[in-house]
Amino acid sequence: GVLDPLGMVIGEGPGADEDRRGIPFVGRAGQYLDKWLDAIEVTREKNAFIGNIVKCRPPGNRDPKPVESDACISYLREQIELIRPRTILSVGRIASGLLIGTPAGIGSLRGRTYYYDGIPLIPTYHPSAVLRNPDLRRPVWEDLKRLGALFEELQSETEQTEV
Ligand code: URA
Repeated sequence: GVLDPLGMVIGEGPGADEDRRGIPFVGRAGQYLDKWLDAIEVTREKNAFIGNIVKCRPPGNRDPKPVESDACISYLREQIELIRPRTILSVGRIASGLLIGTPAGIGSLRGRTYYYDGIPLIPTYHPSAVLRNPDLRRPVWEDLKRLGALFEELQSETEQTEV
């Protein structure tokens, strides 16, 4: 992962491909996620850190149980504290709900910027959900544009403080 990343993306948990390779978001959803990030000039090589709520694959791709996400969330909170990303993109209901602290569905959470420990957080749909339902592409694009605008603001701030 990149140090001092502009963006941290947080998903739910490894799928079969991720479990095999030990790297988050390398399967079909991950390749689609890379395309989203690419559209706003973000890549995991250059300026993004990608992680998950749970670090082990829930059997049969079921949702992580509260006891499982509870066991892993403190690890993720420490990761965020160490990495100090400038922004967070949470994908899907599980990651977004846990980080924002609400059981609300992603459809009602998205469309706004939240703050996690002072870090702007933008929730959006999970790439797997968008692969299943193309109607979600438009709202995701709106959320990505919001994130892209945030990046531009942060970058111009950094440039101003560097001169
Ligand atoms: N879905 C996730 O939420 N995370 C991954 O790493 C892969 C698929």
